Amino acid sequence: MAIYKLQINGRSYQADVEPDTPLLWVLRDNFGLVGTKYGCGIAQCGACTIHLNGEATRACVLPVSAVGKSKVTTIEGLSATGNHPVQQAWDKMDVPQCGYCQAGQIMTAAALLKRNPRPSQSEIDDTMTGNLCRCGTYHRIREAVKLASMSTTPAGATKSSKTR
Ligand code: FES
Ligand code: FES
Repeated sequence: MAIYKLQINGRSYQADVEPDTPLLWVLRDNFGLVGTKYGCGIAQCGACTIHLNGEATRACVLPVSAVGKSKVTTIEGLSATGNHPVQQAWDKMDVPQCGYCQAGQIMTAAALLKRNPRPSQSEIDDTMTGNLCRCGTYHRIREAVKLASMSTTPAGATKSSKTR
């Protein structure tokens, strides 16, 4: 066992765990951040997706010892009030069915829009294809990511700027 100090959702946390413990279990079992879900445990479904320094990352295969000083964001920390543009779009499109995969879907979509605010349809599909949904909400996910991309302002642009 060893002590790990982690930066999660803007707060400091500390856990005394084995170095190879996946971050997913530290989040859920040590810190009570249970919005991040376990689906497969082998990086195949995306249910456990969190952000590591803003990049979508699968927490089920990330040993806690590899996190270091990286900033971790979970679904609980994506926005203070649940009104991130992706969350608003999810709400408008009524995306979830059972909901189990949805935190991972939202975190993957939010990371995509952060690095690419206006993704093409194929860029959306290429990114979201790794997040599985056993309820088959894929059509609504696509529509919600498109809607969220239209409501975010690309870096360097203003809402009133016009394209020529
Ligand atoms: S639980 Fe991590 S990818 Fe499936
Ligand atoms: S909404 Fe049920 S698994 Fe995706």
